Amino acid sequence: MNRKAIITGATRGIGREIAAKLAGEGIDLSLVARNKDRLQELAGELSQKGIRTFTIAIDLEDEEAPGEIIRQTVSEFGGIDILVNNAGMPHKAPISEADPGLWNKMFAVNARAPYFLCQQAIPYLKKSNNPVIINIGSVVDHKGYINQSLYSATKHALAGFTRVLAKEVQEDHIRVHLISPGGVYTELVGEMRPDLNQEEMIQTTEIADIVSFLVSYRGRGVIDEIRIRRFNSTPFD
Ligand SMILES: NC(=O)c1ccc[n+]([C@@H]2O[C@H](COP(=O)([O-])OP(=O)(O)OC[C@H]3O[C@@H](n4cnc5c(N)ncnc54)[C@H](OP(=O)(O)O)[C@@H]3O)[C@@H](O)[C@H]2O)c1
Repeated sequence: MNRKAIITGATRGIGREIAAKLAGEGIDLSLVARNKDRLQELAGELSQKGIRTFTIAIDLEDEEAPGEIIRQTVSEFGGIDILVNNAGMPHKAPISEADPGLWNKMFAVNARAPYFLCQQAIPYLKKSNNPVIINIGSVVDHKGYINQSLYSATKHALAGFTRVLAKEVQEDHIRVHLISPGGVYTELVGEMRPDLNQEEMIQTTEIADIVSFLVSYRGRGVIDEIRIRRFNSTPFD
């Protein structure tokens, strides 16, 4: 029987590439994003690879979203083996321009939704033979870039709970990974780093390859976190 994965932010950028890669490996996909038309178009394309697809058009800002995503996926597929928390909301501005409403929205999408998706997926992941959670962080989950305080705060929160979660579910054999990329060529990076040249950026396929490796590899060694930077940025910086 195929493994079953949930991918948030599946319709564009990194999430779309992860979805294409996992579909090619025979993994059934529950695809999450807000735009219904894009979801349906993607599901149609990926179904041609012989997998089952299911779409959930929902805004992760909604407090009920994590519960709905888990409930609908389990009702459709009967279980969950892989959860990829990929969706994220960028923001670039100095601290002086932030406000509590934006703070709440950013934290809801980038930290609260992944946190409760993990929490609510755990009972189902425990029943899987090869359960994996992958959270997509960012270079700003461990570094501080000017004018990215809010984005960075949300990604630090994501990284923080991911490290604790990995310990809490270790005895359930659920493997938890954090992938922290630098600039990847997507629509989002255009907003965050318009200064970067497309030719110098990480490709979405490279992140998808890492995800594919992490969901299939089950050796005695475990990779907790992968930090991936642009080839011409400073090593170990
Ligand atoms: N690109 C980079 O350079 C880079 C670097 C490091 C980390 N990351 C992280 O990688 C992840 C993906 O980034 P990306 O560049 O691929 O982004 P992207 O191209 O902007 O795509 C974002 C995806 O998330 C969905 N999404 C956004 N807000 C949502 C919400 N409130 N509820 C549900 N779905 C939502 C979007 O679909 P809808 O609009 O239809 O909802 C879309 O499918 C993010 O977590 C980002 O922080 C990106």
